[in-house]
Amino acid sequence: MISSLPTVKPANGIDLSTQVGALRLRNPIITASGTFGYGVEFAHLVDLNRLGGFVTKGISKHPIEGAPAPRLHETPSGMLNAIGLENVGVEGFVRDKLPLLRKYHTPVIVNVFGCCLDEYVEVHGRLEDAEGIAAYELNISCPNVKRGGIQFGNDPATVSEVVGTARKAAANRPLWVKLSPLVSDIGEMARVAEQAGADALTIANTYPAMAVDFRTGRSLLGSVTGGLSGPAIKPITLRLVWQATRACSIPVIGLGGIEKVEDVLDYLAVGASAVQVGTASFADPKASEALVGALEPALEHANIFSFNDIRTKFVRENG
Ligand SMILES: Cc1cc2nc3c(=O)[nH]c(=O)nc-3n(C[C@H](O)[C@H](O)[C@H](O)COP(=O)(O)O)c2cc1C
Repeated sequence: MISSLPTVKPANGIDLSTQVGALRLRNPIITASGTFGYGVEFAHLVDLNRLGGFVTKGISKHPIEGAPAPRLHETPSGMLNAIGLENVGVEGFVRDKLPLLRKYHTPVIVNVFGCCLDEYVEVHGRLEDAEGIAAYELNISCPNVKRGGIQFGNDPATVSEVVGTARKAAANRPLWVKLSPLVSDIGEMARVAEQAGADALTIANTYPAMAVDFRTGRSLLGSVTGGLSGPAIKPITLRLVWQATRACSIPVIGLGGIEKVEDVLDYLAVGASAVQVGTASFADPKASEALVGALEPALEHANIFSFNDIRTKFVRENG
């Protein structure tokens, strides 16, 4: 499906729009799954029509209540979360959330996960009948209960299987695949996902981590372990994005620790076609919109007139 968004070219000639496969975004700023609710909760704070896109919370076959508290814990330069993939389930999403999202002119990307292959198929099957979705984002950083709880995203054969299965079930819309950062060779995972039918890659999810209080002996999260996000992970994920863009020919969407407009431009320099903003929305719910507003002045200040120029400079310097 090709979006028909009008691309607004500012008077100074800087074009902020970007192409992610068949999808044209008015700018490269997308809000990340799980950090921006279903989008509508932020509508009184953020002009959703200014964003490049937004990704919903992960949607599963059935509603999930999520993990016990505490679910969040602040760390130096980052945050741990163990939300437990709480969501309203695909029926609740299509019935209660999607109609509210249709009145915005911003692409809605639905993040999908399952605990086994059949669940990915069923969720996509239901979403394919629904209107108002621009693309799917497959979260494969979750345990496969039929294979002893090993993450779908940690093994090339399983990545190929889950992406290939989802591709067939989600034939009508672009399929983005969100890779796990905890793999020995991100380039191999990128190639495998591309060959299995991914239209774009989202890199990356959170890093498995934990925090404890030695005095009480307790974990600081209700689920003992969680995922690390925020500025602490940016340099690590930046490298993954760089490696993945060299290994495959589909677009890559970079995310991890984006707070400032310079972070956005760094990801674009190493080859990302767009970015997502996650943890930053917890510190400032308007962070994504502020980043949209900061793009043009930052480019002008650096005497750069297109995202392509940033990319070209990086390639010239680093190959
Ligand atoms: C509270 C919270 C909930 C999240 N839930 C999801 C989710 O449901 N599905 C998913 O694919 N990623 C989820 N993520 C991961 C983010 O989308 C993102 O990949 C990660 O936080 C790194 O980006 P950041 O450093 O900008 O936050 C979640 C992250 C946080 C902090």
